[in-house]
Amino acid sequence: MTEDEQKQAAAAKAVDYIEDGMVLGLGTGSCAAKMVDLLGKKVAHGLYVTGVPTSEATAAQARALGIPIVGLDEVSVIDLTIDGTDEVDPEGRLIKGGGGAHLREKIVASLSDRMIVIAEAKKKVPQLGAFKLPVEVIRFAAPALKPKLDALGGAPTLRLGKDGAPFVTDEGNYIYDCAFGKIDDPEGLALTLSTMPGVVEHGLFIGFADLILIGTNDGVEVIEV
Ligand code: 5RP
Repeated sequence: MTEDEQKQAAAAKAVDYIEDGMVLGLGTGSCAAKMVDLLGKKVAHGLYVTGVPTSEATAAQARALGIPIVGLDEVSVIDLTIDGTDEVDPEGRLIKGGGGAHLREKIVASLSDRMIVIAEAKKKVPQLGAFKLPVEVIRFAAPALKPKLDALGGAPTLRLGKDGAPFVTDEGNYIYDCAFGKIDDPEGLALTLSTMPGVVEHGLFIGFADLILIGTNDGVEVIEV
């Protein structure tokens, strides 16, 4: 199976968990986009759901597919969020934010009764940290935060867009991609980053995932967290 087929298989399995009437958190990224495509087909065949998109890109995709979407002013509880990941470890801890949407993704996940994570096989890792940890910062604080993240061992690189200018998130912030290497204490690092003034959100998702669906060459691996 190609990576794309693995993503497709995980996305297809995830939509089996969607029930009529649900309020759904719609993730961001290529794997989540496959799930949204499949959801769009179900909606076209009469399924009724309300989507809460985690990015402008996902909102645009959902609108194009006719999936009703709302903001957080219209819902207080989300039944289920389905989202991709950049890494997942054996304890279900994640690194997210490769697509730059981890701020809204974490807010939506935090409001969700359940989170299903979907990914291709290579995202399952024994230890987090090979993927650079995205840290979203307010622009004003970016120059001051660079040496602080460096001092933590993060070797931060300001994320750039395709045009070579700094990448700006949907919330108008910058992202430092931090090469911490293997992260021995994800909880400790998460706490440290969360308490740094100017850091808006980091890509460590700890205690969010309830079910992980990994597309593999032998089918979809289902991991209950
Ligand atoms: C976006 C994310 C994505 O879920 C993550 O980057 C995985 O994306 P993909 O499915 O394209 O590999 O966290 O902020």
